[in-house]
Amino acid sequence: MALMRIAVEGEPVLRTKAIRVRNVDESLRKLAGDMYETMIDAPGVGLAAPQVGVSRRLIVVHVPENYDGEVNPEYNFRLVNPEIVRGLGRQVGQEGCLSIPGWVADVPRYETVTVKAIDLDNKPVRIKARGHLARVLQHEIDHLDGILFLDRVEDKNTILQVTEEMYEEVAQ
Ligand code: NI
Repeated sequence: MALMRIAVEGEPVLRTKAIRVRNVDESLRKLAGDMYETMIDAPGVGLAAPQVGVSRRLIVVHVPENYDGEVNPEYNFRLVNPEIVRGLGRQVGQEGCLSIPGWVADVPRYETVTVKAIDLDNKPVRIKARGHLARVLQHEIDHLDGILFLDRVEDKNTILQVTEEMYEEVAQ
């Protein structure tokens, strides 16, 4: 496995709609492994393939146990062609992005989502998520459509420049 360079805002790959994966093969599994390692190293709680310069519909997620005051188990996902098939409710919470280092803002999201995808064994998966996990999944799936979290900010006054330590807690 290897660490990959993370693209930053301004690079066209972050604004390109990523293409669907047709084949889950060894090269995709290697990419997912490298992305996972890159996310953990950053550190961040999610990463989408366009963020490492690959315009394909693949995301990785790692939400640690009891993340940011919420009671939750550890979540680890590697999802191919993920889609939100249902979104309900509303939550507003702070987000950051590994591709927009040093900035956070409050972003409105669905409170709960159902995500359909396939896993690295080419098996269909369906995930029902709420709270942080739902937020991370929405943020990462947005990356596949060239959408960045700042695009979704409603209250511009919540956009803040932060120190590195503060930022690491929310980076996706
Ligand atoms: Ni991001």
